[in-house]
Amino acid sequence: MTTSADRALLVLADLGEASARAHTEATLVPAVSAALARHLPLRRLDLRRGAAAPGAPEVQRGASGETIAVFALRDAEGAVGCATMALGEGATLDLSTALLEAIGRLLAVALRQVQVLGRVAAIARRAQGEKRTLQEELDRVALPREVVAVGPAMRAIFQQMVPLVARQDTTVLVRGETGTGKEVIARRIHALSRRAERPFLAVNCGALPEGLVESALFGHERGAFTGAAARHRGMFERASGGTLLLDEVGELPRAAQAKLLRVLQEGEIERVGGEGAVRVSVRVIAATHRPLEAMVASGAFREDLYYRLQVFPIVVPPLRERPEDLEPLTRAIVEKVAASFGRTPPRVSAESMARLRAHGWPGNVRELENVIERSMVMSTGDELILSAPLSAAPGARRARAQDDVSRGGAALHRRRAAGGGREDLRRGRGRGRAGAEADDAAKQDAKTRDAAGGWREGLMIREDLPAPRTQRGSTQPAAVLGGSGFRAPQATRSPER
Ligand SMILES: Nc1ncnc2c1ncn2[C@@H]1O[C@H](COP(=O)(O)OP(=O)(O)OP(=O)(O)O)[C@@H](O)[C@H]1O
Ligand SMILES: [Mg+2]
Repeated sequence: MTTSADRALLVLADLGEASARAHTEATLVPAVSAALARHLPLRRLDLRRGAAAPGAPEVQRGASGETIAVFALRDAEGAVGCATMALGEGATLDLSTALLEAIGRLLAVALRQVQVLGRVAAIARRAQGEKRTLQEELDRVALPREVVAVGPAMRAIFQQMVPLVARQDTTVLVRGETGTGKEVIARRIHALSRRAERPFLAVNCGALPEGLVESALFGHERGAFTGAAARHRGMFERASGGTLLLDEVGELPRAAQAKLLRVLQEGEIERVGGEGAVRVSVRVIAATHRPLEAMVASGAFREDLYYRLQVFPIVVPPLRERPEDLEPLTRAIVEKVAASFGRTPPRVSAESMARLRAHGWPGNVRELENVIERSMVMSTGDELILSAPLSAAPGARRARAQDDVSRGGAALHRRRAAGGGREDLRRGRGRGRAGAEADDAAKQDAKTRDAAGGWREGLMIREDLPAPRTQRGSTQPAAVLGGSGFRAPQATRSPER
């Protein structure tokens, strides 16, 4: 036989279990109602947090004969609220004060728990939001796998300067020796900028013949000069909304320098033979390996343009000055080449690494890429055999390159005056012979790759359609950061005339 005390305990046990499973107020009331309804003819249960409750439970008879109990929800810390319970006829369980108080205590604990869980959920939601924001920040500085920046100098560039400057439309001047990664930096800035969905165009100013520089950059109207059969949109118009990399900006003739200054200051261009300005929104990144200061001093480069470009300079150190990057770069390049060859990346022995470290790398990362690719063509085993020699007389090359740095400007203008020829254009260079020779030496490997087909050195204009976004704030520009190895996958084109 069950006593009323036993049944009261059963009610409490059921109630405890039901309330422990409820995590919100919305689930608590139905769970508790269901538990009570198993034992009592429950018509209605109402829990009100914060409501005033009588000191002792009150049991009244309602107008339609139902039993109404009003009691406090109280735990050790005090009153949490108030409960009203209406029972239909046949409420056989004795609603003693002790039972109602016990039910009130249980429900108070459940309500407090629901409250705490609510707060925890809010904190978790906030933390989740903060985590997302942090993740987005990290995405901005996290580099694509193909880009190596291990040493402090390159880390500062890729993880601090580039993400910072990418947010604004500030003109950036990237300086550094040939093959150091100036274009990699330019593409990264573009990829992290709000212009990432728009085109990235690169033009080698040193490869444009003097007579066509302005037309190539700013466009021309029909009939502007002999042969101008139709209107032509220049690089600035074609890069509209996006980013334009002016590679070898030091090679621009004076007239084009003046026009460039105007775009940077007014955001306007004028087509050759055109009347009136055309507004353009283009972020300009200029790159050079020339000593612009000396060129300003000799009059080869406009001082006002120099200061306009110098707003945010990024100086890329040569590979020989960042030994920490050599090994990770080697590994990354070996993997990239192996993937493009469809084979397992070979091991690089300690001796090979020592040889690579001993080399001066006048052609910087591009030279390293060429050495590795050449070696991988030659060695088919599971260990990389470096082709010997790594390159001829690197010291001599560097000396010549540095010599050119001081003579470049004047030589350039002499060369142009003499009508820098087609040969230069075809080879992607239209500047001074000293410069061309020094670069020929430093980029000799690149030309080897040209012969193998697919390498883009020497092409004057490179144009990327916006790459698909892979993660927030990061695109994989086709030519440098992504793609399959060395077969430059971006659209390339010959200069338009
Ligand atoms: N940090 C890097 N991580 C991985 N690859 C790199 C890095 N820097 C440069 N490279 C690779 O080296 C090659 C040369 O880089 P890039 O074209 O950006 O150099 P550059 O400074 O613009 O050269 P140039 O002065 O000849 O125009 C590219 O194939 C590029 O992918
Ligand atoms: Mg470049």
